[in-house]
Amino acid sequence: MACAPAEKCRNAAMFHFFRILMRASFAVAVTDLPEFREPCKPRVVLKALQHLRGFDLTSATLCDDCDQTLPRNDSDVLVALHDICCGCFSGYTALLANLHAHMLSLKADLQTDYHKLLNVTETIWNHRVKLRRGPGYGKARRALHELFGGAQTRLWHTGHIALSIIDGSATAYSPSTVALDIYLHFKRAETEPAYDLLVQSQNLCLPNVFQSKCEQKHLPIFENFPAVAGPGQEGFMLDFLGVSMPIHVDCEHSSLHLFAPGRSMPCEYLKSGKTLPRTWPMLDEEYLEWADSLTVAFRAAKAARPFRMAELGSGAFGIWAMRAAKAFAKFAAPDVPCMLLLVEPFAMGDGSELQTHVAMNLPPGRCEFAVHTDLLETGAQLKTLLGNTETWDLVDIDIEGAEMTLLPDMFSWLSMRVRRLHISTHSREIHWTLLELMQRSWHVAAHYPTQTAIGLRDLGLGEFMTMDGHISAVTRSPLLAGPPGWS
Ligand SMILES: *[C@@H]1O[C@H](CO)[C@@H](O)[C@H](O)[C@H]1NC(C)=O
Ligand SMILES: *[C@@H]1O[C@H](CO)[C@@H](O)[C@H](O)[C@H]1NC(C)=O
Repeated sequence: MACAPAEKCRNAAMFHFFRILMRASFAVAVTDLPEFREPCKPRVVLKALQHLRGFDLTSATLCDDCDQTLPRNDSDVLVALHDICCGCFSGYTALLANLHAHMLSLKADLQTDYHKLLNVTETIWNHRVKLRRGPGYGKARRALHELFGGAQTRLWHTGHIALSIIDGSATAYSPSTVALDIYLHFKRAETEPAYDLLVQSQNLCLPNVFQSKCEQKHLPIFENFPAVAGPGQEGFMLDFLGVSMPIHVDCEHSSLHLFAPGRSMPCEYLKSGKTLPRTWPMLDEEYLEWADSLTVAFRAAKAARPFRMAELGSGAFGIWAMRAAKAFAKFAAPDVPCMLLLVEPFAMGDGSELQTHVAMNLPPGRCEFAVHTDLLETGAQLKTLLGNTETWDLVDIDIEGAEMTLLPDMFSWLSMRVRRLHISTHSREIHWTLLELMQRSWHVAAHYPTQTAIGLRDLGLGEFMTMDGHISAVTRSPLLAGPPGWS
């Protein structure tokens, strides 16, 4: 039996099993084709349902090969099952195949027709097998409902989550396995092709592994950071900026699946013994955070002013703070101060990992790192921490949903002290609520909502799949405002 994906195999095997079963129990069936076309006779449907109970409605193979006309003769039970399935359940089969095609298309390159998907999703909700009036009508109705009702609800739900991934404005959907499934698809199916894309493109274009394209140019800020040369140290990954990270940090993390492809794919390449291309970041949900971190550091250095950045939810390494510090140190005179404030109540440990990380990546004493390990629970605490007199180049916030308790009353205050904000958002509702609250005091330069396939389409950079949402904004305060772009 030729069948590639596991699900299809299972269904094909199931179908085969029913074929055998049918030989024994369905030998009385009449195989006259019109008999099995909708509207169907209740008794035929009832008989067929007994045998269809095991089918998995989440795949597109409710019936096999309905396009194919099987050789027929009066007593052939294979033909009987085939005809019932393809006849009475043709509506379901077509809808399933249709929905399935939309999901495949979304997985392949994040594109599918929104209105057609909406149509099939709503049609699935309303679909009923047409029955002839006659003996067994009520029983057949109930049996159909019992078998297909729950599956229809699940499919309808799946369709709506897919719609919300494309659209992004709906707030009703919580973290979903559909989004995760689409996201993981790119980790699995695109890991190898993406390698070729990265190696071949070599920063000449911005690789989009979600659409297997490399057609846009990188944001201009990256041009200031040609990739460093030379091998990384044993056990470390060296990025284009020259920052070394222990391999285990990204590559042995238990929730690896939640990282952007730009983080998880290099781990796969290392595992398979490939040389990592030392390229600028690929287009994924962290690209904007890269651009923000480099831009603020570059501008501070060029203006010869002290650099100050706070990273809330910094993890043990202060990954973004270190990237910015490295970028600053590259362009600033050695005596221009650099101050990084890391807030991390959970993962900081004894601070030794951070110490090593700083020692490996910056000249001794180049930047001052302050660590705050108490939980920030109120805007007032954030005010105390950031202080009244200091100006911050960037406040980068990734605090797993606590942004909603910390930030709503803070935007105006922050806008007087902070040049740029980068906020990760952890639900649609949080995302849209914060955007609304920011409008007055902040200019939102770019954003993408949680679990969407919208990406940086508005900037002309293309679509990609995100798990967290991200917001990049510059203050409207005339004293601090700079150009909103990334150069
Ligand atoms: C039905 O047709 C198939 C294929 O043409 C043939 O192999 C089979 O023997 C036929 N069965 C009967 C009962 O005639
Ligand atoms: C879906 O599209 C078909 C064909 O265009 C139309 O007849 C039908 O009413 C639509 N259904 C829904 C639920 O929009």
